[in-house]
Amino acid sequence: MTSEPGSTKFQIDLRRHLRNNEVERNLTILICELAEASKYIINSIRTGDLGVAGTSNLYGEEQLELDVLSDRILQKRLKNSGVVSSFLSEESSEVVYLACEDGQCYSVAYDPLDGSSLVDVNLAVGTIISIYAGSDLMQTGRKQVAAMYILYGPRTTIVYSTGNGVHEFAMNQLMEYTLVQENVTIDKAGGIYSPGGQRNLYTDGTREYVLSLEASGHKLRYSGGFVPDINQILMKGRGIFMYPHLKGHPNGKLRLLYELNPMAFLVEQAGGAASNGYMPIMDIKPQGIDDRAPVFIGCKEDVAMAESFVARELAVTG
Ligand code: AHG
Ligand code: MN
Ligand code: MN
Repeated sequence: MTSEPGSTKFQIDLRRHLRNNEVERNLTILICELAEASKYIINSIRTGDLGVAGTSNLYGEEQLELDVLSDRILQKRLKNSGVVSSFLSEESSEVVYLACEDGQCYSVAYDPLDGSSLVDVNLAVGTIISIYAGSDLMQTGRKQVAAMYILYGPRTTIVYSTGNGVHEFAMNQLMEYTLVQENVTIDKAGGIYSPGGQRNLYTDGTREYVLSLEASGHKLRYSGGFVPDINQILMKGRGIFMYPHLKGHPNGKLRLLYELNPMAFLVEQAGGAASNGYMPIMDIKPQGIDDRAPVFIGCKEDVAMAESFVARELAVTG
């Protein structure tokens, strides 16, 4: 439910919400630091250089100036927070370990600017963050203690969960994040489907699945930005996003540690599901920091249907 402007709930800022929900002190510090970092990332998106950085990331993907700049902004915040013991960025090729002695420490896997190539066509992009207690990032997503994303769209919003529901905040004219709604839920099948990847590389099972979604009246909504595409399903409370296994790309495209696990945490917290077609995303044991996985994520019914089409395909092709 959305708070009515003017009601006291409407004025709750992010830090107060974390305290009201008795979120552990250092986790509150961490989430607020990440929210602060977003203000500098917004500025770099609006005014920064849209060019290439002349470097590439672990995946051999050309880094844009904005990828590198956003990553630097977040690294600085994480290093100075005093509550982070390790972090991994999409833009760096190894886990960075930090000294952290003061109380509970956390590890962060993040995508500093997901969809960065969409900035030059003025489409929405986002920052995706996965948080674990302690210093081990190579755990299943089930072990996350929090996840959040920051969506740089017509409005700048933060969606977070620490395991007690999914809550949305919007940046106001003073650049403060104030509560928009609590306990976002995905509870209805149908509505929209968001099919990533080249259709000509879809396997038969996935292609039949998409045909069944269209036959049942799902409307196609795909921006090419994972954060806005997932946000649309969360905020409408319905639908499914997929970036499936493709011919020649059995693991699809999206990265497990800092794209799929955090979004799976949020979507499951909202009552939805996230699967690689065979098992929950959050039960996948990471093998490497660059793991990818196919993904079907959204309302439970639509995800279960995807798994049935994939299982049927497996039964036929073996
Ligand atoms: P990133 O910009 O961090 O590399 O991620 C982009 C991802 C994700 O935002 C989106 O779902 C997917 O790329 C879109 O891929 P296609 O362009 O192949 O559809
Ligand atoms: Mn990404
Ligand atoms: Mn990225």
